[in-house]
Order: sequence, then structure tokens, then C-alpha cells
Amino acid sequence: MAFPASFIDELVARNRIEDVVGQYVSLKRSGANMFGLCPFHGEKTASFSVSPDKGIYYCFGCHKGGGPINFMMEIEGLSYPDAVRALAKRSGMEVPEDEQYQSRYRHQERLWALMKEAGRFFHKQLYAPAGAQCLGYVQKRGLNKATVTRFGIGFAPNSWNALTDAMRKKGYTDQELRDADLVGEKNGRVYDRFRNRLMFPIFDVRGNVIGFGGRVLDDSKPKYLNSNETLIFNKRKNLFGLNFAKKTKQPNMILVEGNIDVVTLHQYGFDNAVASLGTSLTEEQVALLSRYTEQVVLTYDGDEAGQRAAQRAIPMLEKAGIQVKVLQMKDAKDPDEFLHKFGPDRFKLLLEDSSNRVEYQLNAIRRKYNLNIDDEKIKFVHEAAELICTLDSSVKREVYGGRVAEAAGISMDAMKLEVNKAFKRRIAREKKKQERIDLAPVRALQPKERSIRYDNVKSAVAEEGIIAQILREPVLLEQISELTREQFSVQLFGRVFSLLQQRYKQGQEVSLAVLEDFSPEEISHIAGVMQRQEGPVNEAAFKDCVRIVLAEHQSTGVHTDDDLMALRSKFQERKGTRA
Ligand code: GTP
Ligand code: MN
Repeated sequence: MAFPASFIDELVARNRIEDVVGQYVSLKRSGANMFGLCPFHGEKTASFSVSPDKGIYYCFGCHKGGGPINFMMEIEGLSYPDAVRALAKRSGMEVPEDEQYQSRYRHQERLWALMKEAGRFFHKQLYAPAGAQCLGYVQKRGLNKATVTRFGIGFAPNSWNALTDAMRKKGYTDQELRDADLVGEKNGRVYDRFRNRLMFPIFDVRGNVIGFGGRVLDDSKPKYLNSNETLIFNKRKNLFGLNFAKKTKQPNMILVEGNIDVVTLHQYGFDNAVASLGTSLTEEQVALLSRYTEQVVLTYDGDEAGQRAAQRAIPMLEKAGIQVKVLQMKDAKDPDEFLHKFGPDRFKLLLEDSSNRVEYQLNAIRRKYNLNIDDEKIKFVHEAAELICTLDSSVKREVYGGRVAEAAGISMDAMKLEVNKAFKRRIAREKKKQERIDLAPVRALQPKERSIRYDNVKSAVAEEGIIAQILREPVLLEQISELTREQFSVQLFGRVFSLLQQRYKQGQEVSLAVLEDFSPEEISHIAGVMQRQEGPVNEAAFKDCVRIVLAEHQSTGVHTDDDLMALRSKFQERKGTRA
């Protein structure tokens, strides 16, 4: 099965959570906990906490949490066994390799090797006779040989089995080809998924080939065929070109839409260009970007879809503390077309001219209205004020307010008044939203993680108390021999309980850090439950919780919100934020 329990116990003891996290996040102590900026979601104020006592980390913003092994899995994108190996290496321990894990690890290594081989195969085909047309297309798109080599660009032949046969010859099995998503399957026979396409290997930051994007050579549809997610390919967590762009000397990254845009930009010396992988920008990609740069220049296509994508990306990036600029393309739909039409010097000018996001958003608002019509002018001022009131510096509000006032032909005083009114409206809206949350405590008590539901909230809250306290003080397990796994209303807590009980009986470590076989979401949820629990273990409250779970198991009572809130506040801080 797994690594021996004693080995994991020692591993966790030797890798203190604050040291492991401290390698990635700078932490400041505040009472019993330490706080820092969450490495998993963008933020400017520290809501990421580490509790050395409890041996866990938990983010009150994105609700990720767990022990040191979970942290390594999350931050380095490792599997469980690889995270264990990494920690073992860090603390100078030898890993007792278990056969099953060994094989899963080997499987991942095999897929990396297979993808690399496939990339080489496609690249070679580009220069084979059958690749002539594709090579012609590459040249037509203005890509030179150095670029093709650097990006490993290739050609998938127009064949049902060229890749499959070549990979089989290299010793890869059909199952491995399936697992890498390189083949489709019909009547039990596999066939090449990518045919007659220009192939872009997708690299992770470490330079492994993890997927492919295949473009047609003409105008047929679909334009791109992309690898689906696999054991080694997660679209949300990677960016096309980042393996190169991370080495740039530029102070920023250029975020574009298309693979071809990235490749062409790099060819012209803009070695800081990246693109998301055919989906809209994700939180994970934002967090990834924030590890490598402090400024992003959004360079999305000029069409409506591109502009909408930019408007959506702006707050996501800003929330991560990334300064956002927006480059507006003129007379070309995307950077690729622009570079070929006007050359790199002109693009550089555009880059230097790129406006900060406020200017960009103000322009977008302005374009919606005809300022010669009074009615529209009023709407323009109104909407612009809504934007300006969100700015956090009075200098900025002054500068942009001034511009709007000038454009609308109103006085600065009138504009200030508008901004103040907008600010009050915003505060009122936020207050209302908060009230709605406060008025619905039962909903507020539901886990943030959607896959975990509390059907019997009263019992679930008591179960939270039991689990949190046991994890802090395992000796409590001796007091509740009457409680069984089945009596928990939340299956997850029942599972955790029985596992901890079993470990305790066998004299093993009882902590969150040693829990295996739980999903990251489940571990995060438990870390959240633990982190909300403040103060010393309270035996009376613990016994109350047990009583409630037993009683609830007998009946299925309906409870008022007040009951529930009182119960939770007894042993937990509801919001869990620091003072
Ligand atoms: P050109 O149009 O040749 O300049 O290609 P491009 O690479 O610049 O692509 P485009 O700007 O049209 O699209 C942006 C990105 O969206 C592409 O790089 C793909 O990752 C993705 N994409 C585009 N078309 C498709 C499609 O038909 N299917 C899928 N799955 N993804 C697509
Ligand atoms: Mn393009």
C-alpha cells in the first residue's frame, strides 16, 4: 500500500510546516499563527496562515490547506509520493520505496518521456517529404528555423498510425499512448489523434513536454486540437511560453491569446510573451504569473471577445498584486499580424505606450457614449465615477476624475461629487451583501468546497468540533469509545475519525499531516475546520459535541439558525480571521 506509517510520521516531524512553507512564502508571526501572502491565489493582504502548533497551513481566502506534504503537492504540482520524496530529500531521509507508488511514479516519468519522444517525432516530420506543405505554411507565417527549433514546432502527418507506430517501436504501450492523450480509439484499436496539423509542444515551467496544441494548415475547423488533461497536463496551471519567458530580463510579461502570437513575439525578441492554453485566464495561472513578474501587459485581440477577456483579466491580475497595463492594437488584429505588418520597433512603441488599466477602462466606457447628447454624457459621467471610486489613491482619483470632467465638460467639483456619490453607493451595496450573508447563517456554515455538503448542519458543526479537537489533542479519543464512524452525518468526518482512531490505537502519529487518501479539497476543508478552532481544547465543549452527534444520529431534528450559531461560536471563531 503506502509508505510505512512510521516513515511518514518521522518525515512530518522532521519537516516542520513553518520551515517548509517558509521556503516559498515569507511569514510573519502574529500570536500563535504566522501569516503571509497566499502562494495559491493572488492577494495583497495576508490571509494565508501557518500554525506551527497544529502543523498545518490554511488560507482564509482560497480555502486551501493541509500539512507539509499537501503543501508540497500543491505548490510544486507534485503527486503524493513525489511530495514525500521531495520532503525526504530536504530532511536527509531515505525513502522506503513501495512497489505501487514506485509504479505510479514510473508511469508519470514514462508519460514525460513519451511526450518528449512524440515532440521529437513531430519535429522531424516537418522536414520529411510529407511535411513539405506544413513547412511551407510555417514559412508563410514568417517563422524562421531558429524559432521552429527553439519551440520544438512540428508536423503531425496525415496518417492514422504514423505516431502510434513510431511510439510502439520505441517501446511505448497503447495504454501509455491513451494516457498521454495522443490517440483516439475505435473498436478497440487506437489511432493518431493529431493528423495533418502544425504541432506546438506545450512545456511546463521545468521544460517537460506535457501536451500539444495542433493547428490546421488552412481555414478548416476546428482551428486547434489541443491535448486534453492527463496525469501530467493541467491546463489551468500552465502557460504557453512560460518556460522561456520566465528567464526574461524584462520587468514584465506580455500576455497574449494565441500560440502563434507567443512564438512570433519571441522571434522578434519579445522573450517575455506567454498565452493561456486555449481557455480564459485562470486563478492558478495568475498565481503562477505573480511568481515571475510584477507587471503584465495584456495584449488581447482587438475584437469584442478579446476586449471582454481583457476586462475579465484585469481584476484577477490586480488582486494578485500585479500591475496591469493594456496594449491596444491598431490596424492589426493580434501581435502576430502587427509584427509582420509593422515590425518590432513599432510594436515596441505600442508596448511603451500601453496604458494602465484605468485609462484603458475609461476609454472603453467613453466609447460607449456619444458625448454630444446630454443624456449620454450624464450616463458617461455616472459610469466613469463608478470606476474612479474604486481607485485606492486620492491622487489617482484626482487625475482620472479630471480627465472625465474635461471630456464631459463639467467642473472638477461636480465630478468629485459624482465620485463621492458613487463611493457611497458602493459601500451601501457591499453592506447589503454582507447583511445577506449574515442573515443566512445556515448557508454561511456550509463548506466553501462544493463537493462537501452538510445535510444535518447541527450535527456537522458538532462533528467539526470533534475532529478539530481530536487533531489537537488525540488523547480525547479515549473518551469517546461509544462514537462510531456511521454516526457522523458528514461522511468525510466519519472517515477521518475512524482513521485517526485506528492510528491512535496502533500508537501512530495523529495529525492532519499524516492523512493520506483524501482529496486536496477534503484536506483543505479539514485544515479550515482546524484553523478556525481557537484557544485551548475544551473538554466540556468536546463532550457536548459528542452528545449532539449521538442525539442527532437518533433524530433528524430541525434547528433554528440561532441554535446553530450559538453552537459553533461555543468552540469556534466563525470568520476565522485574525484580530
Ligand atoms: P492564428 O489564428 O493562426 O494566428 O492562431 P493563434 O495561435 O494566434 O490562435 P487564435 O488567436 O485564433 O486563438 C488563441 C488560442 O485559442 C489558440 O492558440 C488556441 O490555444 C486556442 N484555440 C483557438 N481555436 C481553437 C479551437 O478551435 N479549439 C480549441 N480547443 N482551442 C482553440
Ligand atoms: Mn493569431
